[in-house]
Amino acid sequence: MAEDRPVAIVTGASTGIGYELAKCCAQEGFDLVIAADEPRINEAAQDLRRLGAAVEAVEADLATTEGVDKLYRAVKALNRPVEALLANAGRGLGKGFLDQNFDEVRHVIETNITGTLYLIHRVGQDMRARNSGRILITGSIAGFMPGSFQAAYNGSKAFLDSFSFALRNELKDTNITVTCLMPGATETEFFERADMMDTQVGQSSKDDPADVARTGFEAMMKGEGDVVTGWKNKLQTAIASVTPAGMLAEQHRKMAEPGSGKQ
Ligand SMILES: NC(=O)c1ccc[n+]([C@@H]2O[C@H](COP(=O)([O-])OP(=O)(O)OC[C@H]3O[C@@H](n4cnc5c(N)ncnc54)[C@H](OP(=O)(O)O)[C@@H]3O)[C@@H](O)[C@H]2O)c1
Repeated sequence: MAEDRPVAIVTGASTGIGYELAKCCAQEGFDLVIAADEPRINEAAQDLRRLGAAVEAVEADLATTEGVDKLYRAVKALNRPVEALLANAGRGLGKGFLDQNFDEVRHVIETNITGTLYLIHRVGQDMRARNSGRILITGSIAGFMPGSFQAAYNGSKAFLDSFSFALRNELKDTNITVTCLMPGATETEFFERADMMDTQVGQSSKDDPADVARTGFEAMMKGEGDVVTGWKNKLQTAIASVTPAGMLAEQHRKMAEPGSGKQ
């Protein structure tokens, strides 16, 4: 790695929004440490190197303490400060809560919340010691509504949306910024992995992950508190903030109930 380029960590960078975030970082002069659970992260690393960045790929289950420690060790081995942490890895899970396999529910919570916070805790302490850094957390507009048939997932994103603003406030007198990227439905592997392809939202047309990532990256570089991508999503979150929770849950049912898509 060239010592003069800043280093960014991007989690969940093998596909989707995370891959596009990593691309933005590479294009804007960052070297990268990227992580995901599956070997595909190595293919993503090959692609990103073509953009001129030095890239370390780490295969690790970021739902686990060992997985996060493995990523953190790889970062420390570089012996270079981390200028940006893009905590993006996450997964969804469709179907009714009582019909879900609880091990999978637990994996959603441990990936989206526990692993994300543990990584931010470790890297954030190093940033505080240097009084410099940028943190981007991929939350979601899903955090604004009770997610019938995605209940644990939406709850995990409500947690992250809230956590992000709290941490930002705690760090307001430092040179560390915390930005929450809140995408709406985006065209990635997310819905297929969450077993939601028979739902209305799974089948609907969605936002382009490259556009979503570019918006998030720019908000992080400006140090903004949050960014909701796209005007439709902005409108949806504005309406959600004045709509009773029971009504929101009913609306979410229409989008996410198994069989709500075209058969
Ligand atoms: N797509 C949407 O509509 C949407 C909307 C709002 C927010 N988001 C959020 O955006 C983020 C990225 O999702 P995406 O839409 O880009 O979906 P995606 O294409 O499925 O990407 C998810 C990424 O996270 C990684 N990941 C998942 N669980 C992991 C674990 N336990 N350990 C390590 N890596 C893990 C995946 O790698 P492996 O395959 O190796 O596990 C993959 O790289 C997520 O936080 C998601 O909640 C998505």
